[in-house]
Amino acid sequence: MAKWHFWGEKEFSDVYENIYIRALTKDWFDIVSQVVKEVDSVKTKGKKILDIGCGEGHTTKQILDRIKGNYICDLLEPNENALASAEAFLAPENNIGELYLRSLATFNTKRKYDIIFTSHTNYYWALNQKDYDRQLKKLITFLKPNGKLLILTLPEKSNHYQIMLNQIYPTFNYAEYIINFYRRLNFKVRIKKLKMRMFVGDILNTTKAFDLKIFYRFIHNTDSFPKDSNAKTFLGKIKKYQKNNYLDFKDYLIVVSNL
Ligand SMILES: C[S@@+](CC[C@H](N)C(=O)[O-])C[C@H]1O[C@@H](n2cnc3c(N)ncnc32)[C@H](O)[C@@H]1O
Repeated sequence: MAKWHFWGEKEFSDVYENIYIRALTKDWFDIVSQVVKEVDSVKTKGKKILDIGCGEGHTTKQILDRIKGNYICDLLEPNENALASAEAFLAPENNIGELYLRSLATFNTKRKYDIIFTSHTNYYWALNQKDYDRQLKKLITFLKPNGKLLILTLPEKSNHYQIMLNQIYPTFNYAEYIINFYRRLNFKVRIKKLKMRMFVGDILNTTKAFDLKIFYRFIHNTDSFPKDSNAKTFLGKIKKYQKNNYLDFKDYLIVVSNL
């Protein structure tokens, strides 16, 4: 008789399920492929890479596992446990360099990178626009002359922003803000507009509110569960924006380089 060995490895609970189970795998790996393509297009031998806000390194590994040639990747992450997990997870198969336990705001280096990438972290960089701009400007100074800055983030018209009950993230978090910011500074900016569909069919085909409320917490970046009335309004928004049981968060890959 076969045995189920995996209870000890069950890591999904509550809000995490929204990222790892709802996201359409094909869409996400198309996004990963586009990042890999941009990394590969920088032809330096032995690329120096920096991942800003690597978390536990899942996205980092998906990218590093697929790039061509030699590289060394430094990791920056302000959460101590996440950074330790990332190191343990990545070190066996990937070439990891320095680990920086800090936020982008407090980070500085004389190193220059061929590639700097960041996946869905800009929402947490700053409390105000001035500080945010300062960090956008600083990021670019870490690049080699032929280097590329790759930022994955959501555009204004993302269903993620459209289904929120109130504005949680300031508008300078939108992809469009970053694009205009770097264009105004005369950097070359290309945008790859990608799909990131999230399944919500399970929420729509039940009258129970458990998954709805967990999804609410994810979308509103909160530890608190919503009141029933707010959950109901939220459900109305999901119904309005879903297509065939999917929302589309519409990931943008912003590629910034010197002209
Ligand atoms: C949504 S997670 C994304 C994690 C990872 N990049 C990925 O795509 O799977 C956001 C990450 O940004 C990190 N973060 C939060 N504030 C940050 C800051 N000020 N500078 C850099 N990273 C930050 C968080 O600790 C978390 O790991």
